[in-house]
Amino acid sequence: MHDPKAFREMHRARFNADPMIFAAPGRVNLIGEHTDYAEGFVMPAAINFATLAGISPRSDDKIAIYSENQGEEKVFDGVQAKGTKQWTDYPMGVAAILAGEGHKIPGFNLTIWSDVPLASGLSSSAALEVATAFAVLGLIGASYQGPKLAKICQRAENEFVGANCGIMDQFISINAKENHALLLDCRDLSYKLAPIPDHVALVIANTMVKHSVAGGDYPTRRRESEAACAVIASHRPGVTFLRDCTLEDLAKWGNEMEPKSYMRAKHVISENLRTVAAADALLKGDMKTLGRLMAEAHTSYSKDFEGSCVEADAMVALAQDLPGLIGARLTGGGFGGCTINLVEQSEAPAFAEALGARYAEQIGIVPQIHVCHASGGARRVE
Ligand code: GLA
Repeated sequence: MHDPKAFREMHRARFNADPMIFAAPGRVNLIGEHTDYAEGFVMPAAINFATLAGISPRSDDKIAIYSENQGEEKVFDGVQAKGTKQWTDYPMGVAAILAGEGHKIPGFNLTIWSDVPLASGLSSSAALEVATAFAVLGLIGASYQGPKLAKICQRAENEFVGANCGIMDQFISINAKENHALLLDCRDLSYKLAPIPDHVALVIANTMVKHSVAGGDYPTRRRESEAACAVIASHRPGVTFLRDCTLEDLAKWGNEMEPKSYMRAKHVISENLRTVAAADALLKGDMKTLGRLMAEAHTSYSKDFEGSCVEADAMVALAQDLPGLIGARLTGGGFGGCTINLVEQSEAPAFAEALGARYAEQIGIVPQIHVCHASGGARRVE
C-alpha cells in the first residue's frame, strides 16, 4: 500500500480523524559495516521501501498506536518511562526521548504501515523510529536538524528499546538523497553525497535468515572490537575509538589482544580504509574499484568479523559469475538478512532471477530479490 490515500482512509476509519502522514525509508549499506559505533565511516543509501506514520490529535492524553503489520492496536496513558519489550517500544521510545528533550507530548493516534522487510538488515527499526519522530514533531509543530534528529532516534533505540546500535540507519533514513549514496563520517556526522550512476541498479537479495540487532551476536562483536581498542589506547593515549587506530597499531600490539578481538579490530580498521576508498571510486565513476572493495569488505566481514552466515556467504558467492555484477556483499548488522548487489541496470532483471534460482537450489530456501534504486530521505506525504 504505497498509496497514501488508502493509508489515510485506514487511519480515518479507525480513529475518526484526518491524519498528517509521513514516510521514512529503509536502507542498504554499500560498505562500512560495524564501523559507525567506532566513530568510523559508512556509505549507505536509502531504498524505495518505507514506513508510513499517520498521526492525529486526541481530546484526552492517551496515546493509541496501531500497526497494520502487527495487526494490533495498543493504548497507553500518555508517554511511558520504560519499554515493555514489544513492537510499540520503537514509536513510544521516540515519544519518550522527545518528552525528555522538554517537549510537551499531547495525546495522539498513530497508524503505522511498512513494506521494509522486518529483521532483514534493511533498517525497519530506524524507518519506524524516524517516521514516528517526523509524525510527533509534525503534531507539535517542532523540528530538528537532520543530525540532531538522527541522534534522538538512535537514543530511542539505545535507551528505550535496549539495542546498542550506532547512528548509520537513522541518519540515512533522514538525510538520504534520491539516486545517491552518502559517505558519513560517524565522528562529526559530516557527509558527502556520491551519485549512483543511472546504469547501476541496487539488487537486494534476502537470504530469509532473520537478523536482529537486539540479539546476542551484535553486542558481542561490539564488545570484542571495543576490547581491542582499549589495548591500543593503553599504549596511545590519544585513542578513544577504533577510528583512531591504524593497521600498524594492530601489528604492534595485536599480540596483547584476545584472538577474536584482534580479528574484529582488523575488520573495523581495514573497513574504514575501504569505505573511504569506495566513496572515492564511486565519485569518480570507477565501478571496477568499487566492486573489488565490496568483495574485500565481504571477505573481511565474513572471515575476520565473523558477522556473516552460510546462507549470506552462499548468496555472495553465487552472484560472482552472473552477467552484470559490479560488487556483492552482506549488508547491515549481519548474521543473516540481505546482500547488496550492484548490478548493471540492463542485466538486473535476469541477474535477480538467476541468483534467486541458484540460491533456492543450493540452500533450499526461496529468497526474495528486489531490484531497487536509491530513494530520498524521510518526508511529509501529502
Ligand atoms: C545495524 C546498526 C547500525 C550498524 C550496522 C552495522 O544496522 O543499527 O548502527 O552498526 O548494524 O554496520
